[in-house]
Amino acid sequence: MSSMSILFITLAIINFMSIALAFDARPLQDFCVADLTKKAQIGGAAPCKDPERVTANDFILSGFHLPGNTSNSYGVSVTSASATTLPGLNTLGLSFLRVDLAPNGFFPPHYHPRATELVVVLKGALEIGFITSNPTYNYFTKVVRKGDVFVVPVGLVHTVRNHARRDTVAMVAFNSQNPGVTNLPNAILAAKPAVDSVYLSKAFRMDVDTVKHLQSIF
Ligand SMILES: *[C@@H]1O[C@H](CO)[C@@H](O)[C@H](O)[C@H]1NC(C)=O
Repeated sequence: MSSMSILFITLAIINFMSIALAFDARPLQDFCVADLTKKAQIGGAAPCKDPERVTANDFILSGFHLPGNTSNSYGVSVTSASATTLPGLNTLGLSFLRVDLAPNGFFPPHYHPRATELVVVLKGALEIGFITSNPTYNYFTKVVRKGDVFVVPVGLVHTVRNHARRDTVAMVAFNSQNPGVTNLPNAILAAKPAVDSVYLSKAFRMDVDTVKHLQSIF
């Protein structure tokens, strides 16, 4: 990894640590290492492990240099540093991903309800765009190349696809430990129970059979 990439990642993390306090709750102790044996969630965070049993291993996660397996219909892989995989992150208002995209890999249009997203491309190139809310619906889109950093404001719908003819690798920071994700095609077409197809056909100005077909394949 080049020193430029490391600088960008470091700046991204420092930046998000300060912004994070404006969103996720401010911690009341040095740390609250996630106790993954307990299911109960307190305000979206896991219960704290007994501080006397906390070790340095709770604050390290290895393997972010390794490519993910992109053999799936989206051609993408997501490796996560969250309170689940890195228990020391619990309650600190931050999470992080490694994203691998095969050629033609993409994420469907989606949004994160609880976090701004910062994308650092380390290899290849991504075409990323976000859409402002009603009434403008402006689409701000860029090709984000190796060494570029792109920000997606909290809650806005965005599109992401590989722009390179080869694999693309990006690191992604969120200013929430639990940013959440809603894929628009799935939310609209694969809700359980299904959203009424006549209603959707009016919303999309599309015939009911087409809506029913889309609902059946999602
Ligand atoms: C990648 O995932 C596919 C589909 O799940 C699987 O068949 C394949 O063995 C995996 N490849 C590796 C290298 O793990």
